[in-house]
Amino acid sequence: MSGYDVIIRGGTIATASDTFACDAGISDGRIAALGRDLASAGEVIDATGKLVLPGGIDSHVHFSQPSGPDVVMADDFESGTRSAAFGGNTTVLPFCLQQKGQSLREAVKAYHAEAAGRCYIDVAFHLIVADPTEQVLGQELPALIENGYTSFKVFMTYEGLALSDHEMLEVMAVARETGALVMVHAENYDAIRFLTERLERLGKNAPLYHARSRPIPVEREATHRAISLAEIINVPVMIVHVSNRESMEEIRRAQMKGLKVYGETCPQYLVLTERDLDGLNMEGTKYVCSPPPRDNESQLACWEGLQQGVFSVFSSDHCPFRYDDPQGKLTPKGRTSFRWVPNGIPGVATRLPILFSEGVVKGRIDLNRFVALTSTNHAKTYGLYPRKGTIAVGADADIAIWDPERRVTITHDRLADGSDYTPYEGMEITGWPVLTMVRGRVVVRDGELVGDKGFGIYLPREKSPLAKATVSGW
Ligand code: URP
Ligand code: ZN
Ligand code: ZN
Repeated sequence: MSGYDVIIRGGTIATASDTFACDAGISDGRIAALGRDLASAGEVIDATGKLVLPGGIDSHVHFSQPSGPDVVMADDFESGTRSAAFGGNTTVLPFCLQQKGQSLREAVKAYHAEAAGRCYIDVAFHLIVADPTEQVLGQELPALIENGYTSFKVFMTYEGLALSDHEMLEVMAVARETGALVMVHAENYDAIRFLTERLERLGKNAPLYHARSRPIPVEREATHRAISLAEIINVPVMIVHVSNRESMEEIRRAQMKGLKVYGETCPQYLVLTERDLDGLNMEGTKYVCSPPPRDNESQLACWEGLQQGVFSVFSSDHCPFRYDDPQGKLTPKGRTSFRWVPNGIPGVATRLPILFSEGVVKGRIDLNRFVALTSTNHAKTYGLYPRKGTIAVGADADIAIWDPERRVTITHDRLADGSDYTPYEGMEITGWPVLTMVRGRVVVRDGELVGDKGFGIYLPREKSPLAKATVSGW
């Protein structure tokens, strides 16, 4: 029998449905065999006592995203994909942002130029539609969807990004006709503006008031509205970065009605709270993201959503800005209010260890659900399955080997990103990815980068099986 390029021997493989002791033979970047006593290989990786899992797929990250005047995102494709690999990920899906007045095609071209030759792991792009002109709705968006950009995000808040309800209906109609999946950032823009103005007038400018300017009803109302708009158009929708019980229950209610409504939550909503924004000096800015972290009861609700399947994907919403930097969280002088703090926190390297430690090790979810929430469901939802997201003969050999007993204290210096802090500094973790392999090539081994910049490729995607093109029946 001919040999394999690599054999991973002695480990326990887990997929979204099964756990079994088995070796994996890898040839030409793909899984060629699963079994025992596999023939010889160029390299044998000993996984005794370890878990062999599909590499993480993070379907919600931001790299090199234009973030407003005087603000620079901390990660580009090089540092972002490197950090992702350190955290056990093998594929990421960043967003290609269309700015107002920009053609969507131009934005995609520029984003490819940013990514080309710089990635350590594989990438696919979602679009962000911020300017749904006739040209975008009638031509650019449908053509890009056909070309493998099969999902796009829309915002219900943020200056320059927020769409009106009418615009939301227009883009949802394109999604319905083309079979694209719509992702929604659900927060009520006018309510946030109103609250921000009031808080500032009262001199309440500190980072904590970022959270007070976007309380739970702001998110719940927008979630309800997004679901209603999707119901009117009869199109599936993914509500991203859900932070609390009331929004989770809006999604659950829609699911119980039979609507194709899906939900995503993130680590910050499981382990951070609003209290973290109340740091001394400007330290609270390290936790400013939207929606903001809430309270302990909201954390419980997010766990419930993960356990019960209301949330099908667990993503990082990695959106990094440096802290001690005038182009980052400490925005230029004179801008003293929370209003100016760039929204978003880093987390692409810590997503998997946090869910493993807090979820699997603490008995809140089982290992197979962990795999589903962090890898398989992302691939299925966004048109990458079965090439990505599972360990099966014929699939890409995208694998993370985990030491389920390794105890690690999270410190920023082990995350290999472009930021200067982690919101999870000092957190005690049990279970850590010790090897990350993309298409059969080891990228990170025992905390050392061994992969090559440029090895990661761009992946055009199939349409989501959750979203079917429907042209008739208005
Ligand atoms: O604060 C956040 N989440 N920033 C990232 C952009 C987004 O809304 O996903
Ligand atoms: Zn968002
Ligand atoms: Zn995001």
